[in-house]
Amino acid sequence: MTSSASATAQLPTTDALRTWSGPLPGSLIERFLAVRDETERRAAPLSPEDQVIQSMPDASPAKWHRAHTTWFFEQFVLGEHCQEYPPFHPDYAFLFNSYYVSAGPRHTRGERGLITRPGAADIAAYRQHVDAAMVKFLGGADAATFEAVAPLLEVGLNHEQQHQELMLTDILHAFAQNPIAPAYDPSWSFPVRSGTGDDWISLPEGIHTVGHAGDGYHFDNERPAHRALVGPVQIARNLVTNADWLAFMDDGGYRTATLWLMDGFATATRDGWQAPGHWYKVEGEWRMMTLGGLRSIDPNAPVCHISYYEADAFARWRGKHLPTEMEWEIAARGNQLNDAFGIVWQWTRSAYSPYPGYRAVEGALGEYNGKFMVNQLVLRGSSLATPAGHSRFSYRNFFYPHHRWQFTGLRLADYA
Ligand SMILES: [Fe+2]
Repeated sequence: MTSSASATAQLPTTDALRTWSGPLPGSLIERFLAVRDETERRAAPLSPEDQVIQSMPDASPAKWHRAHTTWFFEQFVLGEHCQEYPPFHPDYAFLFNSYYVSAGPRHTRGERGLITRPGAADIAAYRQHVDAAMVKFLGGADAATFEAVAPLLEVGLNHEQQHQELMLTDILHAFAQNPIAPAYDPSWSFPVRSGTGDDWISLPEGIHTVGHAGDGYHFDNERPAHRALVGPVQIARNLVTNADWLAFMDDGGYRTATLWLMDGFATATRDGWQAPGHWYKVEGEWRMMTLGGLRSIDPNAPVCHISYYEADAFARWRGKHLPTEMEWEIAARGNQLNDAFGIVWQWTRSAYSPYPGYRAVEGALGEYNGKFMVNQLVLRGSSLATPAGHSRFSYRNFFYPHHRWQFTGLRLADYA
């Protein structure tokens, strides 16, 4: 497959457009380029071979993430609003559409790792082509066009930030399958907790507004804001640690069926779980595969790479519970939780379901969140891999209960 070089040549280079002085606020173009640059910064340590691998169907190749986020702007901004836009390649929409049925046929998700061509250099050219077209289009947009396109641009940037996190979780999973345990970044270190100890905050019974209210960016699944009865409940101020988890393991936590949901114990048994994801026993000692390579277990660090099933079993072992997403949000809004953001996503026991009155938007982008609102659990906060500026109190992340390749941990709740 070759790039449509002649079409690319008609557009100014991205570097030239960094000084663009069209009618659109320069800050928006700067933000667009900053987000696009962050994706490439995260991909930079990866070789072309690294970028092809798909270590399991839930993970995607880094090259695919780079291309899919580009397709998103090509499909939903340029394709629908820029008549003179020349698509980069006629096959790319098929290859890099993820799950948007409304946007046409697409390649099988679990076979993304079979796509050796287009190569990483082709995808770099694709990104450059779309960046240049986007900046030229935005720079020349009149007020009416800008009004139509700005919300799509925001969705596209936030979408790309979500994939930036997935790029790291997915390559970590791939590297964790490699016997030589490659380091994504040898100088990487796990974030340090801001709080320690067995410390509980109390939420008295009350009716609170939860969800996103106001004008700032948010995904549709955070709306409508609505009132919810919360408490009385106590929530742990601090995250559960590796030391806590080792005590659970030493007490036979993974072998004690009465601690587990039936589906959870079946999964743990089938997959041979004895410890969190990415933990390996080396010469009798547990080690953990990290972005910095294989490291010793830090007992003071928050436990990471656990599934909902494990979080739930741990809470039962401790005689506690997982908080609901509403309880988490109220405590976090009161600035009462240490490390609510920036280390591990925290499992809640709330099903990922629509808020009262939720309706997905019309059209293909209505497929972004709404069609996934069954059989998954909500996680709150953010993780060490979440890009700056992508966290908020109302943010609802969601995964299936057996998933544990994300940076996922927990804090406890108590109703005693
Ligand atoms: Fe996506």
